[in-house]
Amino acid sequence: MTTLIKKGSGKRNIAIGNVQYWEKTNLGLKGHTEQANFCLSIYDKHTVRIQVSDQDTFSPNPYSVILEPQNPRFQIKETSDSILLITENMEIQVNLRPYSLTFKTLEGKIINQDDSAFAVSWLGTEVTNYKKIQKDEKFIGLGEKTGNLNRFGKAYTNWNTDYFAYGVNDDPLYMSIPFYIGLHNELAYGIFFDNTHKTVFNFGASNKRFIYYSAEDGDLDYYFFYEDNVSKIIEAYTKLTGRMLMPPIWSLGFQQCRYSYYPDSEVITLANNFRNRDMPADVIYLDIHHMEKYKVFTFDFEKFSDPKSMIRQLREKGFRVVVIMDPGIKTDKGYHPFDEGKEKNLFVTYPDGEIYEGQVWPGWCAFPDFTKPETRTWWAEKMQFYNEAGVVGFWTDMNEPASWGQFTPNLIDFHYEGEQVSHRKARNVYGMQMARSAMEGSLMHNPKERPFILTRSGFSGVQRYAAAWTGDNVSSDDHMLAGIRLVNSLGLSGISFAGYDVGGFAGEPSKGLFARWISIAAFAPLFRAHSMINSNDAEPWAFGEEVEEISRNYMKLRYRLLPTIYSAFYKSSLDGIPVAKSLAIDYSHDHLIFDSAFQNQYIFCNSLLVAPVESYKEITKVYLPKGEWYYLFDSKTFHGNQVIYQDCPTSYLPVYVKAGSILALQSDISHTGENTDGILNLHFYYGKEDNGSLYYEDDGLSLSYQNGQYYKRMIQWSADEKKLVFDSPLGSFKSKFNQIKLYIHGVDPKEILLNGEKLPVEKEDVAFLGKLTDFDPLPEHSHPYHVAKNTACVTIPNFESAFQINLP
Ligand code: NOJ
Repeated sequence: MTTLIKKGSGKRNIAIGNVQYWEKTNLGLKGHTEQANFCLSIYDKHTVRIQVSDQDTFSPNPYSVILEPQNPRFQIKETSDSILLITENMEIQVNLRPYSLTFKTLEGKIINQDDSAFAVSWLGTEVTNYKKIQKDEKFIGLGEKTGNLNRFGKAYTNWNTDYFAYGVNDDPLYMSIPFYIGLHNELAYGIFFDNTHKTVFNFGASNKRFIYYSAEDGDLDYYFFYEDNVSKIIEAYTKLTGRMLMPPIWSLGFQQCRYSYYPDSEVITLANNFRNRDMPADVIYLDIHHMEKYKVFTFDFEKFSDPKSMIRQLREKGFRVVVIMDPGIKTDKGYHPFDEGKEKNLFVTYPDGEIYEGQVWPGWCAFPDFTKPETRTWWAEKMQFYNEAGVVGFWTDMNEPASWGQFTPNLIDFHYEGEQVSHRKARNVYGMQMARSAMEGSLMHNPKERPFILTRSGFSGVQRYAAAWTGDNVSSDDHMLAGIRLVNSLGLSGISFAGYDVGGFAGEPSKGLFARWISIAAFAPLFRAHSMINSNDAEPWAFGEEVEEISRNYMKLRYRLLPTIYSAFYKSSLDGIPVAKSLAIDYSHDHLIFDSAFQNQYIFCNSLLVAPVESYKEITKVYLPKGEWYYLFDSKTFHGNQVIYQDCPTSYLPVYVKAGSILALQSDISHTGENTDGILNLHFYYGKEDNGSLYYEDDGLSLSYQNGQYYKRMIQWSADEKKLVFDSPLGSFKSKFNQIKLYIHGVDPKEILLNGEKLPVEKEDVAFLGKLTDFDPLPEHSHPYHVAKNTACVTIPNFESAFQINLP
């Protein structure tokens, strides 16, 4: 390191300048230019970290990255004007005069390159990395960002913001994930800018020379990922920043929220309504009115005279309770959490030591400094209050942190793991650290149970602690579709478990809008309905009989599909690939998927293509990418690589199954704690290409799956041999199913062999949705009711050993 020249007033740009010195390190190389120190470290064959600082030492973010460098192999070569750093799958050319980087494939194709003049530059403390735009380059990801799937031409700010009823193009929202993926010339790469200050990502807005990302202060510290496809880049990014734990199975069921359900009798009536109306559900939320004067760690005993008994009654009906936790602690003397936090010095303060106060629901509040380990532990301990009452899930809201008036003075102090920094550096990680503390609290009091934390705010790595929802959306068709893109974008950015408020938080959905929204959300990773104070009732039965029937149909389908969904969550917990995959993951270089008509489409659980459509449309265009596809409801087949027109009355959401897939369904249950009939219904969709499906089960609640107590098997379809091979299950958990009923879609096999022996083949009509009483809009003669007619099926025991099914 060298002592660097202080860079003027920031009135004009100062670029990094020529490399003056460099040397090899264990992980790559380091050196300095006229203006800055730099260091390139190879983390993995596909991941290289680039640090550039105008200070004498680098100041890394302690919160996001959990991976140590993986003993990478690399070589260094020198030429007269550059240094080449070569990993097993890319080459990084460090140009010396002036410093700039060019990332290339081993064949020499340019993946990404700095603008050769400005590369890394400063304007005062603001640091920027300028990158040349490649031909037809597209940009995807960046977490919870509105706008198009392809972010080209737009700029975004990362600054966690409480934004009630945001507009569908507004920015910034609640969460910052400074990671994006670039696509061009059949290549894909990822960039994670690991700086927690306010950052800006400009993907070519108002200029045609470069794209850039900049931070208000701190280092240019970024990770560059190169792999041969988008999935592998997401895997590399989530290897670096972590993946979700398996969530408790009940959190994959339907979740009902409202601002707020009270008193206790109303909550019980709500639960009874679900059961009496035969609508499956698992979770009820208590929003801020459960507290006394909105004070966290209290119950309002006038509204909830005996919370423990209420929660017990709900549990007996198969419901779990999730409570909201806001960070603001009312600064009332005598209110124990405040007195204690003050005494132990756990709150955010002004630089002179006075506690910072901002206004939120309870009035003036102090804010626990979640960037301080002692505060996280204290808060986690305090959660014993809820644990005693039987609460098992936690909703960390307002954790941007929000305060009325939106602005927070930048001078306030945060611990930041001992570094002592201002609000400018700490804000974006505050919410994530609150979610972390909530998770630790949940595990502290229930060490054998999987936590469920839902957070509004977050930063890269938050996926290790919590699921996310997209905040205060609005009841409109545009918002419904925007929410789908937000969730898909979160998925591209490492956050697999995400959802939106079904029906819209603010405003009143029409009947049709609610029906469409809940149908789509049945195919969202997080399936939660919520609505605002003083709005009309918004439970799935509040919109009349027809909407109730449609809702019931999709809620039931969600529960029947849980074996598929659960298996997909397991896979995602291992590789970070989202459960709801934007088409940009598997079809990254197909330009049509970016078309505004198709950009909301996504693949759910690796096998279902969901084509969200506005509530008022009766017919819509759907783009089926390459491959073969089946319409879910009647198994009609379509060739891919074409746009089709699809009927889409509110009762039928366009959903297609990818050929070669297996959908695993169970019988109807009213909540995830209820037993099924013991039959696992596997629907196989005949395809001309090989395909492997992972099937997974465990107890759904404990952490024992981490010690091998699971039941998982691969089911492999070999198209040439027309056989389905079920591998022996791995793990020590016994399947909950004793029988398999295998349905074959797409061919009508004359005989089906099990390990060479003929099986009796039955024929059944398969219906994924229940019949609507009087509302089925499809004319009797054309589609009496969407059913896959005469589907061949066989029943077999759920063998504990490998077996094979042959089709003729
Ligand atoms: C803001 C949250 O986004 C919303 O979901 C919640 O209902 C309100 N806070 C009240 O707690």
